[in-house]
Amino acid sequence: MTDIRTVGVIGAGQMGIGIAQVSAQAGYDVILSDIDLPRAEKGKAGIAKLLARAVEKEKMTQADADAVLGRITSVGEVAPLAAAQLVIEAATEREEVKRAIFTNLGTVLAADAILATNTSSIPITRLAQAAPDAGRFIGIHFFNPVPLMVLVEIIRGLATTPETVAAMEAYAQKIGKTVVHAFDAPGFVVNRILLPMLNEAVFVLGEGVGSVTDIDQGCMLGLNHPMGPLALLDFVGLDTALEILNVFLTTTGDPKYRPAPLLVKYVEAGWYGRKTGRGFYDYSGPQPVPTR
Ligand code: CAA
Ligand code: NAD
Repeated sequence: MTDIRTVGVIGAGQMGIGIAQVSAQAGYDVILSDIDLPRAEKGKAGIAKLLARAVEKEKMTQADADAVLGRITSVGEVAPLAAAQLVIEAATEREEVKRAIFTNLGTVLAADAILATNTSSIPITRLAQAAPDAGRFIGIHFFNPVPLMVLVEIIRGLATTPETVAAMEAYAQKIGKTVVHAFDAPGFVVNRILLPMLNEAVFVLGEGVGSVTDIDQGCMLGLNHPMGPLALLDFVGLDTALEILNVFLTTTGDPKYRPAPLLVKYVEAGWYGRKTGRGFYDYSGPQPVPTR
């Protein structure tokens, strides 16, 4: 089985930095990459902030936080990923973006390295066509926020080898995650169930059945959800949620997955949620304020 010592992470957005953090906390050396070095460094600075908070709250010693951060190297190109035995792709949820990354990565990836994708929805067998070796290609789906959410889904494509699955199970165990296995269908298990619910919440808002507060409080107090569906959409990113629904719709052809018109409109307006400062809530003040 591949002995994983160095983990490469592609995409230093909210998921990539979480994956980098939990990997470094488990003792792996991590190479965190993005389109350019400033973006990768911004991601690493985000990890430093979370670690500083953990030190402040006496959940971690300063020496441990320094050691975790010291294991993470930020880079703005793919070449350094040649040193990784496992590369986890966590870039923007667009098939063409991921395919271009895999093609590029194929020129440097070590012959026995595993390439895993954190895609939320795109079928693994389809993405494997752009990977250097479909046998060493696999889905590992993390949940947001990665340091707090215990689950990962492992999704094998048609050609994924049992050795690749075993190596990912060992990695998941080392970073302290619980694994569920999912068949290679759009959205796998959890998002297949979650996204239609989040989409329905936007239909409910768009039809004027309830306000943002009515919908979110309704689900928090009536269903015991930790966040309302609209707050969760802002957290996940409306752009990502729309991409996921479009993958469901185009891959299955089932109209039940059509995105709510208001979701499309918000994305067209650039209101992606927390990452842009506005979505179903406005994040410019000290507390989020509902926008409808
Ligand atoms: N990263 C790391 N740590 C974070 C964090 C983040 N983004 N957000 C909060 N935390 C930490 C805080 O620092 C805090 O730590 P301390 O206890 O040391 O103070 C702790 O978590 C609790 O924070 P809060 O009191 O602010 O938050 P909370 O108790 O309300 O919990 C939450 C926050 C865990 C995010 C909770 O609201 C929750 O579980 N929400 C639902 C999350 C969810 O459903 N995730 C899945 C999304 S779908 C997905 O990921 C798949 C996909 O493909 C789209
Ligand atoms: P994000 O928008 O926060 O970050 C995406 C990052 O990818 C950005 O930093 C961007 O610069 C980078 N990127 C784009 N093209 C790139 C390229 N060619 N090379 C290197 N980096 C590139 O997105 P996110 O929420 O972190 O999502 C990333 C992936 O994780 C997506 O596939 C998404 O579906 C999946 N995911 C997201 C969530 C969530 O809740 N947001 C949960 C699970 C899985």
